[in-house]
Amino acid sequence: MAYSGPFQPGDRVQLTDAKRRHYTITLETGGSYFTHKGEIKHDDIIGSDEGTMVVSHVGGEYLCFRHLLVDHVLSMPRGAAVIYPKDAAQILVEGDIFPGAKVLEAGAGSGALSMTLLRAVGEHGQLISYEIRDDHLEYAENNVAEYMGEHPANWDLRLGDLNDVTVKDTDGPVDRVILDMLAPWECLDTVRDLLIPGGVFMTYVATVPQLMKVMEGIRELGCFTEPKAWESLVREWKVEGLATRPEHRMNAHTAFLVWARRLADGTVAPKPQRRARK
Ligand SMILES: C[S@@+](CC[C@H](N)C(=O)[O-])C[C@H]1O[C@@H](n2cnc3c(N)ncnc32)[C@H](O)[C@@H]1O
Repeated sequence: MAYSGPFQPGDRVQLTDAKRRHYTITLETGGSYFTHKGEIKHDDIIGSDEGTMVVSHVGGEYLCFRHLLVDHVLSMPRGAAVIYPKDAAQILVEGDIFPGAKVLEAGAGSGALSMTLLRAVGEHGQLISYEIRDDHLEYAENNVAEYMGEHPANWDLRLGDLNDVTVKDTDGPVDRVILDMLAPWECLDTVRDLLIPGGVFMTYVATVPQLMKVMEGIRELGCFTEPKAWESLVREWKVEGLATRPEHRMNAHTAFLVWARRLADGTVAPKPQRRARK
């Protein structure tokens, strides 16, 4: 699977017309794609550089690029709602996902976050993903294999309930745990048992009651640092002369992110102190 360089047979190519409509094709030697503006010959694309323009037989113009990971995530089939790129980016940085890390994720859902994590841990890292539903596991498997060209060697996708997982199943503790599921507070004992001292735990929850339950659960367990919670808002801008302004529409709410670090066994963190009122 090539991510750069001239187009080759087998590549998935996104064609974009003047109205910014996208069409995705898989290149085959001798193949054709028919748009409402006529035939595009795959052979006119094969061998050319990304960012090139292909012209249909009646003069329709289309820009050709491979899908970036974000394009794939936003267009792939979904069994479950995906983690949006803006939140995946926060998880990578705040969750400190490093090359070589051993990361545990649940649930795998549609595999969107799995792909981002797999890239970040790299070939010397490992991602173990649990998914409780076999239909969702199939979406994750297919979506990841489609983008990465095969099932990555550093990915261990398992059907099962995270609550049943022990440190034996993960062959020792993990460096990072990332949860995206309905009731992460029900899995906190498991996260405690799997996470190495100093390891980072992050979870993604959509609603305020979920946020409150997971924050309270983390505090009650007493083996994590004081948890942090936040959300990220990304607003695009239209930049066109005097019309320059923020876009009217945005994905204003996706979910809240929660972050905490595992304390060493037996450590009691000092109680967070609030400033005295004047
Ligand atoms: C919102 S989806 C995850 C989407 C995924 N992060 C992505 O970006 O594509 C939540 C998934 O968690 C799974 N799930 C819920 N509870 C679970 C558990 N206890 N163990 C494993 N998977 C679980 C659900 O079946 C569902 O597929």
